[in-house]
Amino acid sequence: MKPLLEIKNLHLKYHRDGTTKKALSDISFSLYPGEILGIVGESGSGKSLTAKSILSLLPPHFTIDNESRVEYLGKALPLNNQKQMRVYRGREISMIFQDPMSCLNPTMKVGKQILEAFYTHNKKVPLKAANEKILRLLDSIGIPDPSLRYHQYPHQLSGGMRQRIMIAICMIVDPKILIADEPTTALDATIQIQILQLLKDLQKSSDLSILFITHNLGLIANFCDRVIVMYNGKIVELADVVTLFKNPQHPYTKKLLRSIPYLHLKNLKELSYIEGSPPPLLGDVIGCSFAPRCTVKKPKCALLAPPLIQISKNHMCRCILPQKIKAEETSYEKASS
Ligand SMILES: Nc1ncnc2c1ncn2[C@@H]1O[C@H](COP(=O)(O)OP(=O)(O)O)[C@@H](O)[C@H]1O
Ligand SMILES: [Mg+2]
Repeated sequence: MKPLLEIKNLHLKYHRDGTTKKALSDISFSLYPGEILGIVGESGSGKSLTAKSILSLLPPHFTIDNESRVEYLGKALPLNNQKQMRVYRGREISMIFQDPMSCLNPTMKVGKQILEAFYTHNKKVPLKAANEKILRLLDSIGIPDPSLRYHQYPHQLSGGMRQRIMIAICMIVDPKILIADEPTTALDATIQIQILQLLKDLQKSSDLSILFITHNLGLIANFCDRVIVMYNGKIVELADVVTLFKNPQHPYTKKLLRSIPYLHLKNLKELSYIEGSPPPLLGDVIGCSFAPRCTVKKPKCALLAPPLIQISKNHMCRCILPQKIKAEETSYEKASS
């Protein structure tokens, strides 16, 4: 199957006061039609910058290197041309953010905001038909009494409802890809599940592909097809969900998995946390950036930055240890054959 979206060698730099620092390095991955791909990592690991790079919505002082490519349906997106990028934003690739309140206009009725998003890309549709489409969409995404809600302001809605309105603003133009950047982080646990279920329903009914960003690995298991683990501006592991949870390879992923509070844990001692904190994203690290916190590191880890390598079909890892294990297995196989 051909990917819908391909990120190739994404390198992002930060320029300030005459100095340049790396922010993201060597980010490459594909999003396939109809899949939900998760990006997980601690706060500050560069997840949002990755998402914003795809739509060229970067904060000031950040630039994407010239050799970086984002391909949509096999064609490079014009990342350096803001006017041309508007054609893709919303209609092809839509994005929802963590805090719906800061994205919604507090002075405008929510229905009007959805209508505005619709008319950005569908100028010729009559108003009656547009409004009917909006009411149908609101109903389908679980907004009770859509015609009443249409005429309300954001402050009259709960957090969960506001996130549903944000989702409606994205979905009204029938995008192919939805980038959901921590869409449930600001919500209560029960509402979180409802929003995840809604996204999953939309993915099925609209044949949508979703890039789902979260700092919570616990949310990934039941929701995503594949997972990318990010650390300090790099991909450190990429695998399908079952492989990642059953056979994690990177020491960081292993530690992350041990920090999820599952119900079956007998006591809190079974949980562990990762000592230390990640190095600042905007800085230059020598060697593997996880080495200072890694409990299984080798002397050369502090000196050499490992590349992302394929350790099995659909499983990539940026660590020398799985390579070492693989090399030992190979020599063992040779010796025993
Ligand atoms: N507008 C900005 N100006 C300066 N630095 C920024 C800006 N946005 C992000 N950064 C830097 O990049 C880091 C990672 O950002 P981000 O991609 O938002 O992380 P994540 O989404 O994984 O929490 C931040 O911790 C900060 O150091
Ligand atoms: Mg973020």
